[in-house]
Amino acid sequence: MQKTEFKIVVYEAQKILELETEDQELVRKSKKVLSKAYAPYSLFNVGAAVLLENGKIITGTNQENSAYPSGLCAERVALFYANSQYPTVAVKTIAIAAFHNNEYMQNPAPPCGSCRQVIIETQTRFNKAIKIILYGEKKIQIIEDAQQLLPLSFSNKFLE
Ligand code: THU
Repeated sequence: MQKTEFKIVVYEAQKILELETEDQELVRKSKKVLSKAYAPYSLFNVGAAVLLENGKIITGTNQENSAYPSGLCAERVALFYANSQYPTVAVKTIAIAAFHNNEYMQNPAPPCGSCRQVIIETQTRFNKAIKIILYGEKKIQIIEDAQQLLPLSFSNKFLE
C-alpha cells in the first residue's frame, strides 16, 4: 500500500505590523466589521475581509437565524457577495477575525469546513491561490494556499 501525506504550511506573526501593508489593512477591516455581525445566539462575532485582484475590499459578518442552520458564516457572506458583485475578478486574500465574551480571540479562529470548501472552489474558479489570514490577539496565522486547509476536497472535476 502506498502512503501519501498532505502538507500544510502556516506562517505566524505576533503583530499586524509584521504583515505586508495591504494585508495589514485587510486584517484591520476584518476586526472592525465584526461589530456588524448578527450573532444573538452564539454571541460569537466573526468578520471577514476579502481583497480582490482589482483592489476592492469586500467585508462580511456572520448572520445567524432562529432556525439555526439558516444562518451563514462571515467568510461565505463576504465571498458570495464579492463573487456576486465581481463575478470575473479573482480573490487574492481573505482575512478573518473573531470576537467572543467581549474580546478578540487570543488564538485565531480557523474557517469551518463548509467555508473551506467555498474558499477552495473560489480559488479553483479563478485559478489563483487565495491567501488566508487568521487574526488572533496572541498570533496571526497565514496560509498561502487555501487548498492546504482541505486536502481531498470535493470538486467539480468529479461531476465531469
Ligand atoms: N462562524 C463563522 O462565521 N465562520 C466560521 O468559519 C465558523 C463559525 C460563525 C457561525 C456562527 O454564527 C458562529 O460563528 C458560531 O458558530
